[in-house]
This record gives sequence, C-alpha cells and structure tokens, in this order.
Amino acid sequence: MAAAKRTPLISGNWKMNLNHFEAIQTVQKLHYLLPKDVYETVDVSVHPPFTDIRSVQTVIEGDGLDLILGAQHCHFQDTGAFTGEISPAFLAKLDVKLIVCGHSERREIFGETDDMVNAKVKAILKHGMTPIMCCGESLAEREAGETEAKVLGQVQAGLAGLSADQVGSLVIAYEPIWAIGTGKTATSADAQTVCRAIRTAVAAQFGAEAATAVRIQYGGSVKAGTTEELMSQPDVDGALVGGASLDPEEFARIVQFAAG
Ligand code: PGA
Repeated sequence: MAAAKRTPLISGNWKMNLNHFEAIQTVQKLHYLLPKDVYETVDVSVHPPFTDIRSVQTVIEGDGLDLILGAQHCHFQDTGAFTGEISPAFLAKLDVKLIVCGHSERREIFGETDDMVNAKVKAILKHGMTPIMCCGESLAEREAGETEAKVLGQVQAGLAGLSADQVGSLVIAYEPIWAIGTGKTATSADAQTVCRAIRTAVAAQFGAEAATAVRIQYGGSVKAGTTEELMSQPDVDGALVGGASLDPEEFARIVQFAAG
C-alpha cells in the first residue's frame, strides 16, 4: 500500500504567529534540522502570515532551500476595491506555490462560504498555484453523526466546476474543527475513514484517476508523536500542522516521521 501512496505533504500553517524576523529564523532553523534527503520522500511547505512572505521567499530562493512557500488565504479576484484583501496574482508573483483556503477559522470567524471557497480554489488554480482546500465538521455535527454529510458537502461545493485534472492536482485537508488547537486529535482510524470517504466521493464525481492523484491531508493537533500512525493510513497523504509547526524541532520531527 505504501508504495502506491502519493508523495506526502506536510504543511506548517503558522496562522497569525511569527513576525518577519521570527519567520526567517524559523525557516532557517527548520532547514538546518532537516536532512537534505528528506525532501526525496516528502514535500514540506510553510505558510507564514502575508507580511512575512517576501522575507521567507528571499531566504528560500537565496539559500536554495527545498521548502515550498505557501500562504494561508487569498481573495478570489485579481484586483479591485477589496480593502485589506490579498490578490492570488500577487502571491503567484512572490513564487507562492500552495494556498490554504476554506480553513475553518476563515469560515467561522470571517464568514467564508462554500461559494467563496470554490471561487478561491478556481482563482488559485488560474494563477498556477495549488489550493489546500480545508473541510471539517464541528463537535456537534460529529456527535449528531453528520461528519460525512458535512465534509462531503463542503468538498462537493468547493470542487464544483473543476475538471478532473484540476481536482487531481490539488490538496484537500480534512480538519475536524473540534481537533484544531485543542490538543484533541481524531484517531488515525477516524482520520482514515473520513479521508477514504473524501477520496471515494472524488472518484464518484471526477473519476478514479483524479481520486488516486488528489492528496488528502489530516489536520488538527498533529504532533510528532501522532504522525507515524497517521501517515500509515492508506488515504492520509500528509498533515496540515498549526501549533506544532511554530517549533522547528517539533515540526522537523513530524516531517521526518512522514518521510518514513
Ligand atoms: P493545530 O492547527 O495543529 O494547531 O490544531 C491545525 C490547523 O488549523 O491547520
């Protein structure tokens, strides 16, 4: 099973943490801690706040690091009267490769809807970047037995109108809301069940090839100690890591467990 798996992607979502000086130090330390050959078996991305992106880009490109530059969010329009928003075109210009969209914090705190997430997925793809599209259920939804209905509804809405090739190229992050920043993680068996359900839904809508290619991450209180078991699940292709990604040593351990 492992041989057939997609290249895992471990993504550090820094959220609103680390200023640009701290960002540079964190990236340099992470690079120092990771053996060069780790990148042969795992992709590693960092998603700093917008104000750090230029600084991190300069370090990654200047020092020739193998880390992938990511962002946490963007608007779906290229330009316009959207005070405070960031265009995906600007991020592409900074060599950003991966953009998180539809994170539950964006959906719940900032009112992002499924339609907005879908528009962002399309905008990110249009600019040659890869979306990490998040989905996940609340504790109440889980307890009501609505996990798959909620998650698959978000996936279907978020991918609406995409081609099978586009779907195969993207990343979906399954992040149960109750596990984010709480120290509670879904068991690896639970994560596998939902990731498998997502892949099955992708296969039904976009075909087997897209379903085999799409990478599905788990996110929610991932730590080094939980990574190995999580990564042994056949439908889990990586992790979206929040809190633990702020500590380069812990994040490097997570990456190394994912590399196998
Ligand atoms: P956490 O965050 O690892 O701190 O739970 C994950 C995320 O929200 O991406």
